[in-house]
Amino acid sequence: MAYTIELSGRVALVTGASSGLGWRFAEVLAQAGAAVVLSGRRMERLKELRARIEGQGGDAHVVELDVTDSASIRAAVAHAETEMGPIDILVNNAGISAQQKLLDATPEDFDDVFGTNVRGAFFVAQEVARRMVARSLGVTPGTWAGGRIINVASVAGLRVIPKLGVYAMSKAAVIHMTRAMAVEWGKYGINVNAICPGYIDTEMNHHHWQTEAGQRLMQMLPRKRLGKPEDLDAMLVMLASGQSSLVNGAILTADDGFGI
Ligand code: NAI
Repeated sequence: MAYTIELSGRVALVTGASSGLGWRFAEVLAQAGAAVVLSGRRMERLKELRARIEGQGGDAHVVELDVTDSASIRAAVAHAETEMGPIDILVNNAGISAQQKLLDATPEDFDDVFGTNVRGAFFVAQEVARRMVARSLGVTPGTWAGGRIINVASVAGLRVIPKLGVYAMSKAAVIHMTRAMAVEWGKYGINVNAICPGYIDTEMNHHHWQTEAGQRLMQMLPRKRLGKPEDLDAMLVMLASGQSSLVNGAILTADDGFGI
């Protein structure tokens, strides 16, 4: 008999689903049985993913979302719930990176990174959590209430990486945000955890691995290799599931040992 994790009957919202980790997260949640709401700014890419998930027998819906825009967040979450039902799982994945030395960072660089990675992630989680909290009040004990919020931080939030200082600061904020949310929302049955990936080959950094500096960096990694988006599948599905009910406020690394 195999051990399985079932997400059938659950609705998951994935932000930044048009590429990289978000794309893969949405796909794997759908494969585990969840109905997924694919959100982001690039509608054509999201529709392509929806077709792919539907082709695999899954259930997906597309919604436009810019996490830096409060009105867009409210509209996207409302739209998602109208179309698919109450959101049980949020994967707060949308994020941007920027390379610069701290002395060169402009106010615009700072605002861009913090506006997306911290402010954006915070207000998406707040909008979803408000609805989760409202639903969890007064339910029969033992029935599913609350939900799961998975914040995508980074190993850079735990260990500073040269020229990624502002990004690292933003991901450290995501880590502490995760703990703050876990403390405040745990009593409503909402589990909030963070994933800290190491280097994963995605759109965000793909070009870098082709350069000399990228190749040098790869040689400095503990096992001289990059991760693939699917390397995070099991961790994500576990955190999204009912089986992780005791896991709250955890900061889980998947970095091949880079952060040690
Ligand atoms: P990516 O660039 O492929 O994906 C980021 C996604 O977020 C894109 O689809 C982008 O369009 C979306 N996004 C950016 N700003 C947005 C906004 N204002 N509103 C809505 N969507 C927006 O890169 P990747 O690697 O898939 O990144 C996903 C998450 O994983 C990010 O939070 C990133 O910081 C984090 N991460 C990535 C690592 C890596 O090595 N690839 C390592 C550690 C963390």
